[in-house]
Amino acid sequence: MNKKWWKEAVAYQIYPKSFYDSNADGIGDLRGIIEKLDYLVDLGINVIWISPFFKSPMIDNGYDISDYYSVDPIFGSNADLEALIEAANQKGIKLLFDLVVNHCSDQHEWFQRAISDPNSKERDYFVIRKGNQLTNWRSIFGGSVWTKLPGSEDEYYMHVFAKEQPDLNWENPELRQEIYQMINYWLDKGIGGFRVDAIVYLKKNQAFPDFPSDGPDGLASVNLGSQNQAGIGEFLTELKAATFENYDCVTVGEAFGVPQAQLSEYSGENGYFSMIFDFTYDVPDGTNGEPWYVKKPWTVKDWKQKIYQSQKILSEFGVWSPNHMENHDSARVVNRFFEAEQINFASTTMIGALDFFLRGTPFIYQGQELGMKNATIKDPSIFDDIQTKDQYQVALEAGFSSAEALKAVLHRSRDNARTPMQWTAGNYAGFSSAQPWLPVNDDYKEYNVTVEQADANSILHFYQKMIEIRQKSAYREILIYGDFRPVYLDLDNVVAYDRHLNGKTVRVICNFQNELFNLELCPQAEKYQLILSNYEQVLSEAGLIKLNPYQVILVEIFK
Ligand code: GLC
Ligand code: CA
Repeated sequence: MNKKWWKEAVAYQIYPKSFYDSNADGIGDLRGIIEKLDYLVDLGINVIWISPFFKSPMIDNGYDISDYYSVDPIFGSNADLEALIEAANQKGIKLLFDLVVNHCSDQHEWFQRAISDPNSKERDYFVIRKGNQLTNWRSIFGGSVWTKLPGSEDEYYMHVFAKEQPDLNWENPELRQEIYQMINYWLDKGIGGFRVDAIVYLKKNQAFPDFPSDGPDGLASVNLGSQNQAGIGEFLTELKAATFENYDCVTVGEAFGVPQAQLSEYSGENGYFSMIFDFTYDVPDGTNGEPWYVKKPWTVKDWKQKIYQSQKILSEFGVWSPNHMENHDSARVVNRFFEAEQINFASTTMIGALDFFLRGTPFIYQGQELGMKNATIKDPSIFDDIQTKDQYQVALEAGFSSAEALKAVLHRSRDNARTPMQWTAGNYAGFSSAQPWLPVNDDYKEYNVTVEQADANSILHFYQKMIEIRQKSAYREILIYGDFRPVYLDLDNVVAYDRHLNGKTVRVICNFQNELFNLELCPQAEKYQLILSNYEQVLSEAGLIKLNPYQVILVEIFK
């Protein structure tokens, strides 16, 4: 196993619109991030992934870029960005930008030229087909992937996401060169790398076939014709060679649905990317790609198999994983896994630790370290997220009442993760002195940075401790490079695993239930050394450990 700086990192994701507002317009910005860097240094992280801040009409909050070289004025200026890169580098923090190159914005000059001049070279920068050549593919945000090209007689452009996010035609070599140039431009500015957005969609099935419909709209998921298609590897190989490979940078691919057989191609020691996110266990009671109202019963017993399986496969294929429980597209982890009355310090820190000590690089999403919960939105008109609005309609069309539809989408809404970061118990949670673009959660007086910093037993301090143990304690090597081995396989409500290196064993044990549990730690070994627990006491008698409800412990086991 090769050692790499990014394997030893702890990363933190910032959603800039909601992190900190430095100029009182209710919108987070780059200066706001600079002001809060010391908070992140204190927390102990050393990589930051920032969601997009480039010029954008904000149809998809910056994932629709109209100029890859300029910061959007709502976030500040290019000078602010340079200042941020410098400040972060000085503090030993590597910045990852969000690389959105499957599509751009319909306001990008390329698309504008493609529209205004049918003979422009930019016309071929997009995936354009005639009316009789269209497919029945459904875009991720709803409706057909085809929209009439403005001004044209009978031509349509393809968009995997919203119609304001036209897909780029990676078949065109000139377009690819423009993208590589842009990537190198930013790498030359001294950033640490990229999180690579929606990268599995680059290649479209060139036969453009129809598929059997999988929904009442008569359409079929775009994933069938555009996700991980044969030939994508050629694009990704060229991309890497022209850019990433020439820098000591890290790349983290958002790669839904990569088949097992291709995992090492994507992200083995010589893969296209340093790491790729695994989403197979992030929603316990649903599936990515299905309507959000589909909620399935789940059990800890079944769910934990997905994590065990993921860790096993990734290490078999030599893939290093960026472990995460939250991001800007997900609901808050505590709400996904627990009912309201089960959410407390213990359950929050347990689910956090369960993920944090897996093999891979931990990614913490802003506010997760405070125990932030889902948005407290009570009226659908407040939703900002384009996908939530679509899913609300999808639920209504499936026969849900408006109250039921609201409830169904609140469970998965991407706005859940996008409410303002809770800094203080003051106005607007100290995020801004003006009314924020999305309402602050109701619980901000209790859950915020200031209050939690002052409380030695807060969720924030627990996260800080976990980071310190992984980064600075005697267990550093084992927690970073140790093998992963699930244990207590026959205990349904215990999720537990060993990290193992050079004959040493550290065990993570989660009592994933709201009840006490007597655990026989290890029949042959009486001795253990407690490293971390989310309860003050670990009760142990005659070889049994009494685990409290949702207790997590990290112990070194001596055999
Ligand atoms: C990725 C992003 C998501 C965005 C989509 C389109 O999935 O994480 O926020 O909407 O790509 O760019
Ligand atoms: Ca601002």
